[in-house]
Amino acid sequence: MDMPIEAASDAAVLSPPAPAQETGGVDAPAHVAIIMDGNGRWAERRGLPRAEGHRRGVEALRRTVRAAIELNLRYLTVYSFSSENWRRPAAEVFQLMNLLRLFFRSDLADLQRNNVRVRFIGAREDLASDIRSILEEAERRTAGGTGLNLVIAFNYGGRQELVRAARALALDVAAGRLPADAIDQAALDARLDTAGIPDPDLVIRTSGELRVSNFLLWQAAYAEFVFTPVLWPDFDRATLEAAIADFRGRDRRFGGLGGAG
Ligand code: IPE
Ligand code: IPE
Ligand code: MG
Repeated sequence: MDMPIEAASDAAVLSPPAPAQETGGVDAPAHVAIIMDGNGRWAERRGLPRAEGHRRGVEALRRTVRAAIELNLRYLTVYSFSSENWRRPAAEVFQLMNLLRLFFRSDLADLQRNNVRVRFIGAREDLASDIRSILEEAERRTAGGTGLNLVIAFNYGGRQELVRAARALALDVAAGRLPADAIDQAALDARLDTAGIPDPDLVIRTSGELRVSNFLLWQAAYAEFVFTPVLWPDFDRATLEAAIADFRGRDRRFGGLGGAG
C-alpha cells in the first residue's frame, strides 16, 4: 500500500496469479442432496422398533432444513422414499406414508413462515389420493417461497424418472411437436421431475452405505459425494457443515484439468 507505484507494478508482474479464493477450494454448494439412510439400524441398535428410527429421522430432517436455511443453501433435496422401498413389509410402508402426512400437518405452516419453497420429485400416480393432495397442497402453499428450495424425493427412482422423460420425448416426437434430431441433453433435462432445478453439487449419504440406490442418476453426473457413517437420526448441522467443508476442499474438474487457473 505504501509501496512506490513502480515497485508495486513490478510485484504484480512477477507474482503468480492469485488463487480464485483464499481457501483454495470451491464455492459453497448451491444444491446439497441427501440420501437419508440408517433409521432402521439406529433403532435396532437401541432395541427399539424400526418405526421409532423413522420418527427420529423426521426430527433429523427438521434440524437439517433449519441448518440449510441458516447456512443459506439455495437447494436441499432429500431422498425420503424410493421406488424400491415398496418392497418393505406393508406395515413399514404404511408408517413411512403416515410420517409424510404427519410432517406436513405439523410443519407446513412453519416452512411457509420460513419462506421455504417445497417441491416433490417422484411418481405421484401410485400414491394414495390423500398423499397426492398433501404434496399438491404443500407445493401450492409454498409456491411463493423465495428462500430455501426444499425438494423431497418421494416414491422417487432415477431410472423410473428417466423412463418417464423418454416417454414424454417420444410422445412429443410422435405428435410432431419435436423433431427427433432436436433431442439433446437440454430436451431430456426439461422433461425430468427436476426440470428447472440445478444439478446437485454435493450428494451426502449417511449410514456408511457406499451406493447411490437409484438417486438422481442423471443429475448427479458431476456431483461430489460424501459418505458418512453417521446414521440419519443422528445427523445435525455439524455433520452437514463437515460435509460442506469436505466438498469445499475438492478439486472439481468436470473432465478438464482443473487447478487454480
Ligand atoms: C432410511 O432408513 C429411510 C428409508 C429408506 C425410507 P432405512 O429404513 O433404510 O434404515 P436402514 O438402512 O434399514 O438402517
Ligand atoms: C435409499 O435407502 C432410499 C432412501 C433413503 C429413501 P435404502 O435403505 O432404501 O437403500 P438400499 O436398499 O440400502 O440400497
Ligand atoms: Mg437403508
